Amino acid sequence: MNRFQVDKLKSGMRFSKPVYIDQNNMLVGANVAIREGDIKRLLKWGIREILSEGFPVDDIQATISAIKDDGTDLGQIFSDYNKLIAMREEIEKVHLDAYNAVLKAHNSIRANRLFATSDLERAVEGIINILNKNRNAFLFMYNDFKEWDPLALHAANTTYYALLIGMRMKYTKPKLVELALGTLMINSGMTQIPVYITHKQTQLSDHELNQVKTHPILGYQAMKKLGNFSEKSCVIVLQHHEQYDGNGYPRGLKGMEIDEGARIATIADNYEAVLEGRSYREKQFFYQSMKQLVGLGARKFDTVLLKAFISLMSVYPIGSIVELNKGGIGLVIGSNPHKPMRPIVKMIMTESKQTVRDLVIVNLATDQSLFISRILDEKESGITMNDAL
Ligand SMILES: [Fe+2]
Repeated sequence: MNRFQVDKLKSGMRFSKPVYIDQNNMLVGANVAIREGDIKRLLKWGIREILSEGFPVDDIQATISAIKDDGTDLGQIFSDYNKLIAMREEIEKVHLDAYNAVLKAHNSIRANRLFATSDLERAVEGIINILNKNRNAFLFMYNDFKEWDPLALHAANTTYYALLIGMRMKYTKPKLVELALGTLMINSGMTQIPVYITHKQTQLSDHELNQVKTHPILGYQAMKKLGNFSEKSCVIVLQHHEQYDGNGYPRGLKGMEIDEGARIATIADNYEAVLEGRSYREKQFFYQSMKQLVGLGARKFDTVLLKAFISLMSVYPIGSIVELNKGGIGLVIGSNPHKPMRPIVKMIMTESKQTVRDLVIVNLATDQSLFISRILDEKESGITMNDAL
């Protein structure tokens, strides 16, 4: 066993083999990051050294060999996953900046005050940058945000999904920016609807519903009057409740009459809306949201764009906690675009319900003996997505 001094450990450090406190007690498994809290606890307990047969791992590639698989894309998935975890702080900052930029724009509209789009543009730059590095960055959007303004939060979150679809459709950077500026402002018209309606817990009356239905027009007008957005970004807001079958509002446009950006925005908006407005625990129902989206499918959405989104997220969306047929529990961390029923899963619990501390990733597309038997919610599994990450 090699010995390592506790005061030399850094948060996020990983070892190639499990790390032990003593002969009997493991601190973390191989390739599992040591957390700040672990180090503090060791120091508090007066433990000066830890033991491991391995060494600190700073080269992700070096650890890939530890994974047993057919070697398809698993190395990449593993590397992406490690990068995602390492990017957590950066991702959370970008998300908060986007949220704040939306909040500021909403407040300007409430006050009927002119506003610059520079904060929103910076936010979009940040999101595009982070999604280019790792398209699963949205997993960190679902932290504890009870105090956050739901209107601004929804707009920020919707923008991530809209950008992912835009990227899938090979949009150029200027097109992505226009799309994202639209989705950041998606429900800005709601700032003009009386609060008693937007906060009403019971069913809205016809009159109240009609008022809500004016929010795309109100948002469009506010963007024109108070901001300096392109027409394209404003149209996304104006048309984000139009439906492919013509049953949407405000104009009842059909199919290709609806701007493509708005057709993307409506998919992202609907997907996020199902995750929204609930307690923190209930926000984790990615699968329910995808199921609903697929159910509404051809009627409400452009199916080409919807398929692009499903191929990105898989039928069991990234972030879902799933049970496998043999009893193990895992977190979906990647999709196989051509096999949306068979995503890539990071194992959380073994078949005998022991916590998996090492980083074990299973690719259901290549491991034919395993399949998803059901989706679990956090209450049932006792695991939060944040723990699972
Ligand atoms: Fe809306």
